[in-house]
Amino acid sequence: MTTTNKHILDVFDPQTFLQEYWQKAPCVIKQFIPDFTDPIDEHDLAGLAQEEEVDSRIVSFNEGEWQATQGPFDDFEKVCAGKWTILVQGVDRYINEVSELAEQVKFIPNWRFDDVMVSYSVTGAGVGAHTDEYDVFIVQGKGSRRWQVGLPKDNYKHISPHPLLKLIDGFESIIDYELQTGDAIYIPPKHPHKGQTLSDCLNYSIGFRAPTNLELLQGVFDYGETLSEAQTRYSDPNLLELRGQVNALKVSGAEVSNQELTQLKNSMLALLESAQAQQAILSFLSRQALPDSKLEYVLTCNEVSDLLVAGKPIYKAPGVKPIYASTCKNDTLHAQNAKCEANASGIFQFFIDGEVFEIDASLAETVKDIIAQDAILTCPNNLTPIQQTQFFSLVTELVNAGYWYVEE
Ligand code: SIN
Ligand code: CO
Repeated sequence: MTTTNKHILDVFDPQTFLQEYWQKAPCVIKQFIPDFTDPIDEHDLAGLAQEEEVDSRIVSFNEGEWQATQGPFDDFEKVCAGKWTILVQGVDRYINEVSELAEQVKFIPNWRFDDVMVSYSVTGAGVGAHTDEYDVFIVQGKGSRRWQVGLPKDNYKHISPHPLLKLIDGFESIIDYELQTGDAIYIPPKHPHKGQTLSDCLNYSIGFRAPTNLELLQGVFDYGETLSEAQTRYSDPNLLELRGQVNALKVSGAEVSNQELTQLKNSMLALLESAQAQQAILSFLSRQALPDSKLEYVLTCNEVSDLLVAGKPIYKAPGVKPIYASTCKNDTLHAQNAKCEANASGIFQFFIDGEVFEIDASLAETVKDIIAQDAILTCPNNLTPIQQTQFFSLVTELVNAGYWYVEE
């Protein structure tokens, strides 16, 4: 099948993309990144795949057989046989220029972003036809690749030619396109797809995530200590009301009445609506599995302020994606909202990789600015002496946590 124009964008406009394609339809975006040059090469990728803490795989099709091996790798010779692909997850957490690729999709919120997976594949290779649960933009680096994408269907035949490979047995494509360097393809969840390398190539998959409601609940309960402050115990001074008159009692002792179930569910909802639950949700959403880069020798607040005063930039580390809840401006619609309670407390909170950072709410806009930028260059000059101290102490905390760093 030939690809219809509807699926090929010559010009990319985020607004049209969100309206027509995001989570709805796949598309090829021609020259998504004009003049694209690869920030890494296959040797850098192989280097990362040797590291214990990096998630990597090599998939090959050799002499009619699929093979898949999980990293880390010491020896590539045996596994890189036939038509092979090396895939490395989370490269954005290690390499700044790869992390910067996510800037191309900054119209999608940070908390939806998962990682940038980079693959290198030799001519003729591919990981087979499959579906994924998440949205992805695949940017074509050097080389070229043919991508076929189909529509979601419940009855695709699933095959597993190797325990680590979950493939489908073919699909009808609505996109069949050869991506050149700088082009990208957007694939929504559950759309079957298959890449076939036409000349040795690098691909950058900017991947997103979306929790199920159960995953959200499980994630929130990991912050039990925060939540415990908002917990209340079930009580039923209204037991008579809940179960009916004693002398006319119809319900057996074994039964849990509908009213009791409603009261129990409402009490869970009250917990979820608390400011503490909001903090737990945001902590969970901010998790990124960043490498541990806490400083061994912590810097003092004075050292950090001296650096900034001397004009030494403090850079945001690769992969760091802070998030915060939007604030409401005396808006009656939001007046009862837990996030406004947090504002009313005079504290601005933001979250990085599951950790919460706090500062006086008067510095909220300053902090929003600095966390959006690649580097802190100076101390903003409109701060009072007290605010300056608070600002430097926050920057010190961020540097000591490894989320911002000073170049040697
Ligand atoms: C690849 O880069 O080879 C695989 C990307 C994908 O199909 O999700
Ligand atoms: Co895929």
